[in-house]
Amino acid sequence: MSAWWREDVIYQIYPRSFADSDGDGMGDLPGATSRLGYLRDLGVDAVWLSPFYTSPQADAGYDVADYRDVDPRLGTLADFDQLMARATELGLRVIVDLVPNHCSDEHPWFQAALAAGPGSPERARFHFRDGRGHNGSLPPNNWMSVFGGPAWTRVVGPDGPEQWYLHLFDSKQPDWDWTNPQVQAEFESVLRFWLDKGVAGFRVDVAHGLVKKAGLPDHTGEQHALAGVSAERDETAEPLPTNSSPYWDQDGVHEIYRSWRAVLDSYAGPQRILCAEAWVTPTERMARYLRPDEMHQAFAFDFLESHWDATQLRDAITRDITALAPVGASCTWVLSNHDVVRHASRLGLDQTLPRPHGITAEDPQPDRALGLRRARAATMAMLALPGAAYLYQGEELGLPEHTALPAEVRQDPAFHRTGGLETGRDGCRVPLPWEADAPGFGFSPTGASWLPQPKDWAEYAVDAQLAVPGSTLELYRLLLALRHAHRLGGGTLDWDDAYDPAQVIAWQNAGVHVLVNLGAAPVTVPVGYRVIACSGQLTADGQVPLDTAVWSIAH
Ligand code: BGC
Repeated sequence: MSAWWREDVIYQIYPRSFADSDGDGMGDLPGATSRLGYLRDLGVDAVWLSPFYTSPQADAGYDVADYRDVDPRLGTLADFDQLMARATELGLRVIVDLVPNHCSDEHPWFQAALAAGPGSPERARFHFRDGRGHNGSLPPNNWMSVFGGPAWTRVVGPDGPEQWYLHLFDSKQPDWDWTNPQVQAEFESVLRFWLDKGVAGFRVDVAHGLVKKAGLPDHTGEQHALAGVSAERDETAEPLPTNSSPYWDQDGVHEIYRSWRAVLDSYAGPQRILCAEAWVTPTERMARYLRPDEMHQAFAFDFLESHWDATQLRDAITRDITALAPVGASCTWVLSNHDVVRHASRLGLDQTLPRPHGITAEDPQPDRALGLRRARAATMAMLALPGAAYLYQGEELGLPEHTALPAEVRQDPAFHRTGGLETGRDGCRVPLPWEADAPGFGFSPTGASWLPQPKDWAEYAVDAQLAVPGSTLELYRLLLALRHAHRLGGGTLDWDDAYDPAQVIAWQNAGVHVLVNLGAAPVTVPVGYRVIACSGQLTADGQVPLDTAVWSIAH
C-alpha cells in the first residue's frame, strides 16, 4: 500500500472563500470544482476541504448541524459528488474536515437534549451539569472557552434557568461527551458515509480535545488555548505540557483514534488517512497521535510558530523529526491556515514580539515587501523538508493578511466573545483574487464577497501572476515540480554545518542542497553546486543575500 501521506502536498481549500459560483458572495462547492484544474496545474497532490456541512455558520462551518449533508449556501451532496468526480479525473485526492469535539446547538441531537431535560439519555450525549452556588447560578467549573468567556452556558427552559452545558468554543458549539457509546457509533457512521463517497481521509479538528478529565475538575493552571486563537499565551514562558489541562490531550483520545483507524483500514485501495489538528506540547506527546495504529499525520505547529530566526527554525525542525522517528511517522509541515495570520504578513512583523492573533488597522502594520521576501524563503524551506506539506489557499499568490477589516464586518466568534480584545481570524479568510480586472477580483460572478477584499489586491490575482517570471505563483509551481522530480518529501534531512548556525539553515535532502540565509552577510552555495531555484535575487556575484533561500544540485 503506498504511503502517499508521507510526502504529498495538500492544498487547503477554505470553501467559503475559494470560489463562488452562484454570485451570493460566499464560495461554494461548484466554485471549487471549477477551479480544480488550477490546483492540478499548480502541482499539488490533494486538497483538504474545510467544513462545507449544514451549519448556522456561527464559527464559519466548524459548528456542524448535519454531518452528512452540504450547507445550502455551499451547495448540495450532488455538488460534492461532482467535486469528487472531477478531482479523481484530475488525479487529486480529497480530504474532508471532521469536527468531532463539538457540533452546532442546532444539531438535532442537541435540540433533543434541550427538550428532554436533565437526566435524560439525550442529555448524556453532551456535558450537561447542574451549576454551583446559590440556585446553581454559577458554572459547574472554572473552564474558559477558547474564544473567551466561560466554557459553560446555562439552559433556560420553560420553567426558567436550569442546567449548564459545556462548550470549549462558542456557546453555539456544544461539546460531545465521548464516553457515550452513541456518540462513538455516530462518528464511525459519519466516517463511513464520507469514505463510501471516496474521500482519501479526514483532517480531524481539535483532535486533542475530545476526552475530558473524569469528574470535570477545575483547571488549576493558566488556561491558554489554541494557538492562533487565544491571546492568553506567554510565548516567553516554557509551556506547560498541554495535558496539564483537564480538557486537552487526555490519554483517552487515543482509543478513539485506534477505533477510527480500524474503520479506515477496512477500506480497500489506497490508504485513507487521519490528520490531527492537535496543538500539543511537548512534541513527544504529539507523536503519540501518530503511533502505527492511530493517525497518519499531525501538523507540526511548532515550525509554523517559529519566528524568523535560524536557531528557532532549526530547533523546531529537529524537534519534530526527532520526536516522530520512534513511532515511525513522518512530519507534516505547514506555514499558514485559516486560523493564523498569513505567513506573508506574519513574517513582515517585528520578530521580537509575540505573534498576534489577527491584525487591525490600529496595530503595527506588517512590512509587506519584507514579509513576502521571507515568506517565499520560508516556503522554500518547508517544501524541501522530508514529509508532507499543507498549503493554505492564496499563499501561492503571496497573499497578505487583510489588516484593515472594520469591526462591523468581522465574523470570528473570538472577536465577538472578547468584545474585540481578540482580533480574530477573519483577516486570513478573505475571498481569493482570481482576475485582476474583474469585479471582486473574479471571486464571484457578481463581484460580491462575504468579507471585503482590499482594493489593492489586483497585483496578487492569479491572472496577474500566471506565466509571469519571478511571480510567487510561478515560484510555487516550480518548487512543486522540483519537489516531485527529486522526491524531496520522501527524502532524509542531513544538516549542513558549514555555515554559521545563527544566520543560516542549510541541509541536504535527496541530492538537493537547501540553504536559507537569515543573516545580513551574503553566503555562497557549496562549490560544485548549481542553483535550481531561488526565492529572490542573488547578488551580482551569485551569492545568497539576506532572507533568501536557494535549492541547488551538484553539477
Ligand atoms: C479550527 C477552527 C475552529 C475551531 C473550533 C479549530 O481548530 O481550525 O477554525 O474555530 O477548531 O472548531
